[in-house]
Amino acid sequence: MVRILAIETSCDETAAAVVRDRAIESNVIASQVRAHQPFGGVVPEVASRAHLANINGVITAAMGEAGCDWSAIDAIAVTCAPGLVGSLLIGVTAAKTLALVQQKPLLGIHHLEGHLYASYLAEPTLEPPFLCLLVSGGHTSLIGVYGCGEYQLFGQTRDDAAGEAYDKVARLLGLGYPGGPVLDRLAQQGNPEAFDLPEGNIRLLDGKVHPYDSSFSGLKTAVARLVEELRQTYDELPLADLAASFQKAVAQALTKRAIAAAVDHGFKTLAIGGGVAANSGLRQHLTAAAEPLGLQLIFPPLRLCTDNAAMIGCAAVEHFQRGDRSPLDLTARSRLSL
Ligand code: KG4
Ligand code: ZN
Repeated sequence: MVRILAIETSCDETAAAVVRDRAIESNVIASQVRAHQPFGGVVPEVASRAHLANINGVITAAMGEAGCDWSAIDAIAVTCAPGLVGSLLIGVTAAKTLALVQQKPLLGIHHLEGHLYASYLAEPTLEPPFLCLLVSGGHTSLIGVYGCGEYQLFGQTRDDAAGEAYDKVARLLGLGYPGGPVLDRLAQQGNPEAFDLPEGNIRLLDGKVHPYDSSFSGLKTAVARLVEELRQTYDELPLADLAASFQKAVAQALTKRAIAAAVDHGFKTLAIGGGVAANSGLRQHLTAAAEPLGLQLIFPPLRLCTDNAAMIGCAAVEHFQRGDRSPLDLTARSRLSL
């Protein structure tokens, strides 16, 4: 049995959790969404300051909810990359201080590895290999999971992440931030066939389409052009039809690539992670495509799909068991491959 206190501050959620093996004992998140809303997106300096204001309270709440004292904690884990450096530094500094004061081992965890491990929290009996589709505001990646630390990146976005595309299109339509949930709700009232939008194919040198890589910036530009055209004709934009057509294009693009990777590499299970995993269109398209193939889908509950510290703790448990430790001069990095 391993019990870890984990901290996550890579973007705009200040989070701490206590995880015992693959079980969550507490999972506390202080969301900064309202602080960033007036700016229409995450402002790095606002994020750092909010992390600094919230971090101690969040850690105290996580320890309190778990009902354990420091003697019951085996190690302190923290997201150390990738993310906003000013944000990461708050979590890393807090974790290093606790490790030093409480005399506990320290583990720096990759944020994307945390997202992969959310699937184990949702489905504790899950064992590798499995394929993970990670779709968030910062990432759109197809990752093969073969074991702890054994990952293969099959595909990723060449420009905007799927969630980023949602946020940018929502801003374009004047729908506020974050855009994903609002567009998703609107899309459910619209006609997905109303407008034909591009899927965002990546051409290889030989002219063939990359089977797993995606691109969403062209789709965003296509929506912008369409909106300009529609404004000439309509007093009010057909928002629901636009949302539904956009949602269909994103869901189709992601589903096609995820299913192709699963089939080509013989995966029997596909786990979905990141905030866009909540998307109703993506869920419908993936479910319809996976069923005839007998491909098992894992959709963790939303609180585990979006940024949280429990997923970081779950990854740390396995690293701890393998004997991995980070030095006390652990640093934060904005970019780091998995
Ligand atoms: O994983 P997450 O909480 O944070 C990052 O690590 O980025 O993902 C946030 C992203 C935002 O871009 C948000 O618009 C998107 O996930 N999102 C959605 C939905 N709910 C959240 N996108 C599409 N449909 C949704 N229902
Ligand atoms: Zn994330």
